Amino acid sequence: ATILVLHGPNLNMLGTREPEVYGRETLADIDERLQQQAADAGHHLLHLQSNAEYELIERLHEARREGVDFVIINPAAFTHTSVALRDAILASDIPFIEVHLSNVHAREAFRHHSYFSDIAIGVICGLGSQGYDLALQAALNQLQQRG
Ligand code: DQA
Repeated sequence: ATILVLHGPNLNMLGTREPEVYGRETLADIDERLQQQAADAGHHLLHLQSNAEYELIERLHEARREGVDFVIINPAAFTHTSVALRDAILASDIPFIEVHLSNVHAREAFRHHSYFSDIAIGVICGLGSQGYDLALQAALNQLQQRG
């Protein structure tokens, strides 16, 4: 199967960006690890980080055409703002898991609402980069169940 991992704005700064909140690992570290885990399980993992809403939207349109089977997405700040990205993921009709490194519910009130959680298969937050590993495991289980 093909799994697409999407990272929203500012996640390219991981490792140096507020490390007490987001950890010291870089996004490249995380993507490489996920790619290895997917490959070990006999699957294909693609990833994209973008600071631009339209790039993430267009990637989701493309994902549908490509036949991507599952999406893992950390929409970052777009979580709390983007009806357009929500609509794109609905249009893609691809099941997805929402991931956040930090526990958004323990932070500012404006981070408590997500435009994605009610349409996600599941949501993982507050576990740092491990959240992505857990999401990948869950995605692979989901895909296996569906056959
Ligand atoms: C984040 C949480 C968001 O509120 C924030 O805007 C981010 C990262 C996280 O992974 O914890 O950029 O999605």
